[in-house]
Amino acid sequence: MGDKMSPGKPELAPDINPRLSKKAGQFTESVIREMTRLALQYGAVNLSQGFPDFPAPAEIKRAAQEAIAANINQYAITWGAKSLRDAIASKFHATQGIQVDPEREITVCCGSTEAMMSSMLAVINPGDEVVVFEPFYENYGPDAILSGATPRFVKLRPPDWSFDPAELAAAFGPATKAIILNTPNNPTGKVFKRAELECIRDLCLKWNAFAITDEIYEHMLYDGAQHISIAALDGMRDRTITINALSKTYSVTGWRVGWAIAAPRVTSAIRKVHDFLTVGAAAPLQEAGAVALRLPPDYYTKLAHDYAARRDTMLGILTSAGFRCFKPRGAYYIMTDVAGFGFPDDVAFAQYLVNEIGVAAVPGSSFYQNPADGRTHLRFTFCKSEETFQAAAARLARLRLPQTP
Ligand SMILES: Cc1ncc(COP(=O)(O)O)c(C=O)c1O
Repeated sequence: MGDKMSPGKPELAPDINPRLSKKAGQFTESVIREMTRLALQYGAVNLSQGFPDFPAPAEIKRAAQEAIAANINQYAITWGAKSLRDAIASKFHATQGIQVDPEREITVCCGSTEAMMSSMLAVINPGDEVVVFEPFYENYGPDAILSGATPRFVKLRPPDWSFDPAELAAAFGPATKAIILNTPNNPTGKVFKRAELECIRDLCLKWNAFAITDEIYEHMLYDGAQHISIAALDGMRDRTITINALSKTYSVTGWRVGWAIAAPRVTSAIRKVHDFLTVGAAAPLQEAGAVALRLPPDYYTKLAHDYAARRDTMLGILTSAGFRCFKPRGAYYIMTDVAGFGFPDDVAFAQYLVNEIGVAAVPGSSFYQNPADGRTHLRFTFCKSEETFQAAAARLARLRLPQTP
C-alpha cells in the first residue's frame, strides 16, 4: 500500500494490481467434473461423475414444490431449518444410535462439499496436519489447501483396499488435527470395518485428533456390508464431525443440501464459517429434505437392492469388455485396473475412451497425490439407468484388449 501513495506513481500501478491467490494456484479444476464436460462435448455415455440419470422420488419432489408454493422462499435459519435439523437428529439416532441435539450440534450446509469445507476451516490452524486415505475423493486435496492443512496420505491397497496399521500410526503425530474418513468410500467401494475404525479411533484418542467423516454413501451397501459411523465408537462422539447430504441417498445432487454433525463447541465454529461462506442452503429444499429423511425404512432397503443390481450389471459390462474390476462393497463406483489395455497411462486411456469409444470415465490419477500411483486405474460410476447401461455396453464392446502373441 505504501507504493500506491508514493509520488509520481499512478493510483493503480501494475505492481499493485490484484494478483491471484497462491492457494488457488496449487490445485486444478476437478477432473471428475471436467470429464462430464468432455462427455457432453463428445456425446459420450457419462460414467464419470456420480449423479443419477433417473428421477428423484416423487414424494420429495412434490414436497419441494409445495414448500415453494407455501412461500418458504426466504432465508432459512443460517444453520438450517428446524424441521430438517430435527429430522437429521432422529434419523442419526435411528440408524446409528447416536443422540444429538438439533439445536446445538447440527449445521445444514450447501451440500456435503460445503459441510466438509466449513468443518475444515473451523478446526484447522496453520501448521496442522490432516491424515487422508488415498485413493481419495478428489475434493479433499483442495479442501486441505484452502483450509491451510498439510495432508499426510496413507494408502488403501487393492484388491481389498486395506491399510497398514503401522503406516497409519506413522502418519499421526503431535501436529495431527484430524483424519478425513470416507465410508462407504469413493472411489474404492471400501466399507470400513469395525476393527479398522477402532484402530483409527485409538490414534485419534492418542493424538487428540478429530475424525471428519464423510458418510454420504451410507445406504449404498452390498453383500451384507454394514455401515458404522465412527462417532458411535467409545470416545469418539465429541471428537467426530459427521458429514452427510441429501445428494446421493435421495438422488438430488443438484439440490445442494448437506450437513455436519458435531459437538456444540465445534458446531458453533462450523456455523460461523458456514454463515459467512454461504448464509444458508436453499430454504424450500431443506423442507423437502425433512420429508425425505422421514421416508420409511423400506425406502433404504429398496435403494440398496436396486444399486446392488446396477453394480452387478456394470461389473458384467466392464468384465466382458476386458476390464479387471475391484468389486465394491459400498458406494456407487467401480475401480478398475486397465494396465492390460496397453495405454501409456490412465489419462491417455480415458481420452481414448471418451473420444473414440464414446464412454466417459475418471482417470485413476485424480484420486492420488502422486499421479503415477493411479496410472493403471479408471473409475466408472453405476448410478445410471438401464438405457445408459445398454448404450455403454454397446460402445465398450468395440474395445479390444491387445492380442497376446
Ligand atoms: C465422497 C463424496 N463426498 C461428497 C460428495 C459431494 O457431495 P455433495 O453433492 O453433497 O456436495 C461426493 C460426490 O461425488 C462424494 O463422492
